[in-house]
Order: sequence, then C-alpha cells, then structure tokens
Amino acid sequence: MSTHAEIKKWTLPALAAAKREQRKLVMLTAYDYSFARVVDANGVDLVLVGDSLGMVVQGRDSTLPVTVEQMAYHTAAVARGLTRAMLIADLPFQSDATPERALQASIALLQAGAEMVKLEGAGHKLEVIRFLAERDIPICGHLGLTPQSVLKFGGYKVQGRDENAAAKLRSDAQAVADAGASMMVLECVPSPLAAAITAASPVPTIGIGAGPDCDGQVLVLHDFLGIDTGHRKPKFVKDFLGEGGSIAGAIAAYAAAVRDGSFPDAEHSY
Ligand code: KIV
Repeated sequence: MSTHAEIKKWTLPALAAAKREQRKLVMLTAYDYSFARVVDANGVDLVLVGDSLGMVVQGRDSTLPVTVEQMAYHTAAVARGLTRAMLIADLPFQSDATPERALQASIALLQAGAEMVKLEGAGHKLEVIRFLAERDIPICGHLGLTPQSVLKFGGYKVQGRDENAAAKLRSDAQAVADAGASMMVLECVPSPLAAAITAASPVPTIGIGAGPDCDGQVLVLHDFLGIDTGHRKPKFVKDFLGEGGSIAGAIAAYAAAVRDGSFPDAEHSY
C-alpha cells in the first residue's frame, strides 16, 4: 500500500488500489502546458482535458462544437506539463457515436498523450465502452448531468432526483463498470444517490456536484479559480483562490480539502 504522496506516477493499478484503500482522488481540469505543470506539482492525481474547454477557453455556449482535433491539441499541450498525474481526455460530442468512430478518436487522444478517455452516458455507449476496453483503451464513464446531452435535458439540471431516475442511474453505473470502464464521473447527482452508487461501484467514482462520498472530486479549473467565464456558477463550485492565496496555494488547498473530506460540504452539494 502506497500513500498518495509516495505515488510517483498514477496508473490504472494505482487507481484501483486507491479505491480499495478508500483514499480520495483529486482531479482538476487543465487545458494548457503551464497550468498542467502547476496542477501536477501541487497534489492533483488526475488531470482532465475536458470538453468544457469549449465553454471556458473558446467561449462557446455548450461543449457541442468541440472537435477531436481541438481535444488532441489541448491534450498534447497538457501532456507536456505532467509528470505524476494521470491524463484523461474527453471524447467530444458524437466522436463516440459508434465503436469505430470512438476508436479513431481515442487513438488520436492517446497518441496526443492521454492515458484514459472519458465518454458520457450509458445505453448504446455500453457497446462503445466494451469495444474500447477490449482494445486496451482505459475508459472513464460520465453519468448524471452529461453536458453533451444539454439539448435533450433542456439545460444543466441535477439528475436522478426521483426514484425512477435514481434507479436508472444506479443500474447505468453498474453497467458502465461491467462494460469495462476503470473510473466514472458523477455530475450533479444528489449526495445520497452518489453515495449509494459509490458504495456499489467496483471502480472509483469522481464527483462534481455529487456530494462528499464519491471516491474523488473534480472541478473545472476556471470555476475553482473564480474566473468569470460568463456562464452561470453552479452550486458545487467553490473558489479556492481566496483561501489558497495563489494559484499553487489554491490547488494545494483544494487537494487537501478533498483528501480530508471537507470539500464538498453541504453548501456545495445537492
Ligand atoms: O468537460 C469537463 O470538464 C468535464 C468535467 C465537468 C467533469 O467533463
């Protein structure tokens, strides 16, 4: 058993061990080399090149316009800044619509330096997850509020509030893990539901607006630094810059708060 501080490089076996040993995982998004360096140096275990870059870097209204080429460009920049953290990159909108498309997009992201790809949803995505996993591509699922489905949802809303929706999320989470995902993000899910999914999940869950009981937490870099991106600030966002005093200090404060369980608190959960 190694403590987080002893881990020189995050790998899939290290992730599985963290879940087994109930050590919290700290994830943050990054989109460029310089931020990747500072995030990597201040205790973040997992760095996500999210397709949120469409909203916080490109100024779009949603993540839908982001392309595989753009994801690969930012992934390559972030990869150059990391030595310790594991790099996860999003498969952007419809690049995972079929297993073959997802394989081509995943190859582009892995060749740019990603070590895992993240994809949203269950349903027909289960076949995609199975297809990629059989080809040794590490996968992170993403359930709850899946931003690529914003048109279907009619906005960015908390998911799994009623019993039917909660039951569906619980069975989707089981199916995503069974299909071969090594980790899953739970976004905007009531805390008790995320806790139940986490307790049943064989793979680590990473929450964003999903309460304190997930195996780890993720925030979008711009949100946690309190940068005004022109988008509505969700309830789960906490600005760590005030507390940390510098960007490096904010990242270290966030990492410490996730590890000691003080973030997220009730004020930042549903
Ligand atoms: O795109 C992204 O940054 C994400 C996080 C919100 C989890 O998917």
